[in-house]
Amino acid sequence: MSDVRHFRKVSDLSAKEIRLVLDDAARLKLEPRRDVLAGKTVALIFSKPSTRTRVSFSVGVYQLGGMPLFLGEKELQMRSSETIEDTARVLSRYVDAIVIRTFAQQDVDDLAASASVPVINALTDERHPCQALTDIFTFEECFPDPRGRTITYLGDGNNVAASLAIAGAMTGVNVCLSTPEGYDLPADMWAETQKAATAHGVRVWQERDPHTAVTGASALYTDVWISMGQAEDEEKLSALRPYAIDERLLEFASPHAVVMHCLPAHRGMEISDAVMDGARSVVFDQAENRLHVQKALLAFLLGADEC
Ligand code: CP
Ligand code: NVA
Repeated sequence: MSDVRHFRKVSDLSAKEIRLVLDDAARLKLEPRRDVLAGKTVALIFSKPSTRTRVSFSVGVYQLGGMPLFLGEKELQMRSSETIEDTARVLSRYVDAIVIRTFAQQDVDDLAASASVPVINALTDERHPCQALTDIFTFEECFPDPRGRTITYLGDGNNVAASLAIAGAMTGVNVCLSTPEGYDLPADMWAETQKAATAHGVRVWQERDPHTAVTGASALYTDVWISMGQAEDEEKLSALRPYAIDERLLEFASPHAVVMHCLPAHRGMEISDAVMDGARSVVFDQAENRLHVQKALLAFLLGADEC
């Protein structure tokens, strides 16, 4: 049980292991079928809506020869009638890996602590590590020499921002976080990004002014302003408005800079239609790459990688 590998957060993999997974994802993008999950089942527990994560994991498991088993949290006994730990123990007797999207990071950690199969975090309020690996993969497709380049994230200091900053640090990519006062990363996540940045000799820094923040960046990245589970908040929306990626802001960026968004996008809010549909947008490549990267991650965690 102790040698089971989980992916609760980006740093559950070493920098070297992230490299292996991203390189394998590139191979899987060219050769999508591989029988490494033949006869295996992967449970997908979702307590929040999802298009990309649910579908890319389902299709990915199938393309690797396995069977995805979708479990909406409301249909499980988990939490209502039994503990997360007991659910972990029982599912571990049936399935070969558990993917979970939920609210509290602690729930993923608790599930992993009692599971004897790999547990993968498919988004919590705190982290979105599968997205972050994919973001780096996509950035590297745009810039095959990514070391020393900068991704500027603009908007809410949320789960996507935190995981992106840590993944950037661990892969040699600088990350500038441009968030309005009051919407920075939580202090513990900021401390984690700084620790990763120092360990890997990379810069993760904060720049309040969005125009300054995009100057010199190779990618501009944004996410929704109100995340799943959060209430609409006019004050927050108004603080975030200057951080929208639109044609005016893009003029301050280098001509080579690409635009990224994890999706779903709220067009006309954090990103304009023209930017999202424009020539510099790689948002749909990002969405596609979820499939390739997560397949490589599954192959790695289930000990079937060909690296
Ligand atoms: N980016 C992302 O995780 O999308 P979904 O919420 O559709 O899964
Ligand atoms: N920050 C967003 C990401 C969605 C993929 C959320 O948590 O809703």
